[in-house]
Amino acid sequence: MVVLAVPWEVVPPVLAQAGDLSGKVLIDCTNPIRWENGPVVAIEGSGVQEIAKRTPGAKVVKAFNTLGAEHLQAPKFGAYKADVYIATDDASARNVAASLARELGFDVVDAGPLRNARLLEHLAVLWVHLATQGGMGRSIAFKVLKK
Ligand SMILES: NC(=O)c1ccc[n+]([C@@H]2O[C@H](COP(=O)([O-])OP(=O)(O)OC[C@H]3O[C@@H](n4cnc5c(N)ncnc54)[C@H](OP(=O)(O)O)[C@@H]3O)[C@@H](O)[C@H]2O)c1
Repeated sequence: MVVLAVPWEVVPPVLAQAGDLSGKVLIDCTNPIRWENGPVVAIEGSGVQEIAKRTPGAKVVKAFNTLGAEHLQAPKFGAYKADVYIATDDASARNVAASLARELGFDVVDAGPLRNARLLEHLAVLWVHLATQGGMGRSIAFKVLKK
């Protein structure tokens, strides 16, 4: 398993240095965000699909990108566990990312195929907006509630 957690701008050189990732589970935590009087999505389409094009044969999965990194070690928010949303086209990659998320103490939400990762990247922009310009601070996380 490879976890990609570098600034969006350096993803191409970092992947080039990483070598052949075919057959490996590649968990993409990156967000293509830039600042224009607030956070905006920096690209058309989705970052992870650009990454998938650069890593043929890798089992690419988007996860862990929708909350502040400091919460990865402490995902409890009062009575709730924060959600990790997982988008991928590969069943084994989904299982690996879900196991890791549960081990860390998250609730896991299956966000569907890799094309839905675009939605997760936009959700990350909302998180950054709420944490910064929205005045809520970084101690926030998204949660799907169910009756
Ligand atoms: N921070 C968050 O709360 C958060 C939350 C969700 C998603 N993300 C996403 O996760 C990614 C990483 O965010 P971050 O805040 O952790 O960024 P960061 O602290 O700026 O960078 C993370 C690591 O990337 C490495 N790096 C930077 N340039 C590199 C290069 N040219 N080659 C190899 N490694 C390089 C650095 O490793 P060295 O220290 O070894 O140089 C650094 O420790 C971003 O895409 C971000 O959008 C961040």
